[in-house]
Amino acid sequence: MEYETPLFFHVMQYAARADRDVIDMVSGNPDWEPPEALREGLREYADFEPDRFQYPPSEGLLELREEIAARRGVDTEQVIVTNGAGEANYLAMARALERGRGSEIILTDPVYPYYPGKTTMLDGTQTFVAADEDGQLDPDAVRAAASEETAAIVANSPNNPTGAVYPEATIGELVDVAEEYDAILISDEVYDHYDLSGEFASALSVDSENRIVTNAFSKSLAITGFRVGYAIFPPELVDDARSRHMLVNVAGSRPSQYAVLQALRETPPEYYETNRELLRERVDTFTDALDETGAEYTTPQGSFYVMARFDGYPGTLANVERLIDEAGVAGMPGEAFGDSRSDWLRFALVTPRVEEAAKRLATHFE
Ligand SMILES: Cc1ncc(COP(=O)(O)O)c(C=O)c1O
Repeated sequence: MEYETPLFFHVMQYAARADRDVIDMVSGNPDWEPPEALREGLREYADFEPDRFQYPPSEGLLELREEIAARRGVDTEQVIVTNGAGEANYLAMARALERGRGSEIILTDPVYPYYPGKTTMLDGTQTFVAADEDGQLDPDAVRAAASEETAAIVANSPNNPTGAVYPEATIGELVDVAEEYDAILISDEVYDHYDLSGEFASALSVDSENRIVTNAFSKSLAITGFRVGYAIFPPELVDDARSRHMLVNVAGSRPSQYAVLQALRETPPEYYETNRELLRERVDTFTDALDETGAEYTTPQGSFYVMARFDGYPGTLANVERLIDEAGVAGMPGEAFGDSRSDWLRFALVTPRVEEAAKRLATHFE
């Protein structure tokens, strides 16, 4: 088997090794503060008795699962705390494939590259459905692609890399398609707290045995290094997912889960709104400055990313490396996200230097 290794770490390392100042806009690592309660939770943890330094329950701390379940309106038994949304997606895809209803996973183009990578690793086959220019997904196109072979449809809203936020009707119809073919809609909602449009709809708003929702605190609490996420399974699918989680990981990180629980309990809504406001400002600053470059670009409705297309400069890895060396701006090649955006570059707005980055791009493409 040939694994498809996502390019993120390669580009990050290339940028880190560069012989010049580089503005890092490669991956979605927030540069803003986590909630204060999270830091306090961690400090508290250092002084706990040694028993709290031992294995937590494999499926996650009970109080954290209860907190998640209460917030999401599901049963605690449906919640597995995972090693980020990354593991949640892996468990969901594995569970969908092992139901034996088919081996095809329907993905979008453009796509978050870890999904095709995981599909291959799990011995599934990939079918891509093109999103439109705005990144919206037409459920009828998904229906047309679906068949008895379809094990899962993976949707991500707010979307990486397009910034699209799917309306409630789209999510509802995607669940319908999954039900029609007895497949599973996997709804990756890791950017739910960065909905800048007010249009975000969770797949949990539709009651169905045919959907799994995945999420994490990596982005919402600005802690991609903590590795705390979760998956919400329909009751009849959760047991085997829990076993797979245990066999792969034994358990997740206990101090991280404790600190996340404290943060969930103590953090007011203003924390999340402040971060959305910061992102809105960065989107405006970056896209205004991009206007100077004559580039075409996307204005995200959610998530952290702006895609830009510079005339005569396709989104290849070689061009991304050139941009790092010659302009001092590091983005991701559009080709990493599928054929449809291979002319584009993706920039993550996770640096206060977005205006300077756009100016560097303007100078470079003058
Ligand atoms: C769409 C999407 N899903 C999942 C992940 C991985 O999240 P985590 O760090 O919680 O594993 C990311 C990270 O960038 C993402 O963009």
